[in-house]
Amino acid sequence: MTDRTAAHFYLDCDTGIDDALALAYLLATPRAELVGIGTVSGNVSAAGGARNTLDLLQLAGHPDIPVAVGAHHPQAGTFHGGAPHVHGSNGIGGVELPRSDREPIQATAAELLVQLAHQHAGELRVVAIGPLTNIAAALRLEPKLPELVAEITIMGGAALAPGNITAVAEANIANDPEAAAEVLAAAWNVTLVPLDVTMSNVLEERHRQELLATDHPVSQALGDMLGYYFGFYVDIFGRACSAMHDPLAAAIAVQGVELTVAPTVRVEVDTTSGPGRGQTVCDLRGQYLGFPDQRGARCRVVLELGEDFASHLLGTMQAAWLAEDSLDAAPVA
Ligand code: RIB
Ligand code: CA
Repeated sequence: MTDRTAAHFYLDCDTGIDDALALAYLLATPRAELVGIGTVSGNVSAAGGARNTLDLLQLAGHPDIPVAVGAHHPQAGTFHGGAPHVHGSNGIGGVELPRSDREPIQATAAELLVQLAHQHAGELRVVAIGPLTNIAAALRLEPKLPELVAEITIMGGAALAPGNITAVAEANIANDPEAAAEVLAAAWNVTLVPLDVTMSNVLEERHRQELLATDHPVSQALGDMLGYYFGFYVDIFGRACSAMHDPLAAAIAVQGVELTVAPTVRVEVDTTSGPGRGQTVCDLRGQYLGFPDQRGARCRVVLELGEDFASHLLGTMQAAWLAEDSLDAAPVA
C-alpha cells in the first residue's frame, strides 16, 4: 500500500514484540517502502529474530522483502540469551505464527545494508530498533555509509530518564555499547528515540482489545503478543499496558508524528566497565545555557511528542488492513 513517493527504508531489528509492531506499522504506512531487513541478537538470537520476521512478513502479505541474519554476538562478549521474561521464549510472546517457506538471504545484515545504501544512494533511510552491532559492522565494511544513507533513526538510550537494564543504560545500547559508540560517532543525520519518550507513550488494554477485534491475521497476532508484553509491564506501570519503543522509532523515521521537544546535541556512549557502561550521555546543558557551542552536535534526541501516538499507530495499521479488504472485495473487471 505504498505510494509512489514513499521513501526507501532498511530496518535492523531483534524481533521482539515491539519490533513486530514496528514492522507491521512500516508495512502499513504509505510513506515507507521497506526494501530490506537485517536481524541482530537482542530480544532473541539473530536467527530467531529472522524467523519471526519472515513469518510476520508472510502473514502480512509481503513475503518478498529480503531478510538477512546479522550478528549473533556483540562486539565485546557473547550474546546473553535474550529477554524471554519480556518477549517470551520465541520473542513474540509464545504466539505460533504460520511458518513462512522463505529463508533468510545468504548475505549478512551488514552486507545487505551496504548493498541497499549503494542501490538507493543518498536516499535510503535506516531504522535501527535492536542492538547496533550490524550498523557498526556496516560502517566498517563501507566507511562512506554515512554519506550514502539519508538518515538513521535509532530506538535506544536514555537522555534524562532512567535506564531499563541498569540505572542508566537502555537495552539496545547496553547489549552492545561499543557498537553504539561507533554508530553515534559517525557523521550522519541521526535521530535517537530514547526511553524518555518511549516510556511515556503507552499502549493500553483498550488498544489491545481493538487489535483483537479487528478481522486481520496480523492484528490478531499483535493483540495476542501484546497480552504477553503487557504482563511484563504490569509491575512497571501498575496496570496492563506497554511502552511503545520500536513502533515509535519507526513512526518518527517516517515523519508520521509531530515532535515538540527534540534538540540536536552531542551524544556519547559510555563504554567503560563501570556503572555508567551503556549510558547515552546526552549534552542537554543547553536547556540552561542556550547551547552556546553546537560544534560536534549532530544527534537529534526526541524528548516529547505533540500528539497521541497510540491513535496514530492503530489508525495507520487499521487503514491499511481495511484497504486490503476492499481490494480483495473489489469485483474483477
Ligand atoms: O529498550 C527497549 C528496546 O529493547 C526495544 O527495541 C525492545 O525491542 C528491546 O530490544
Ligand atoms: Ca527491538
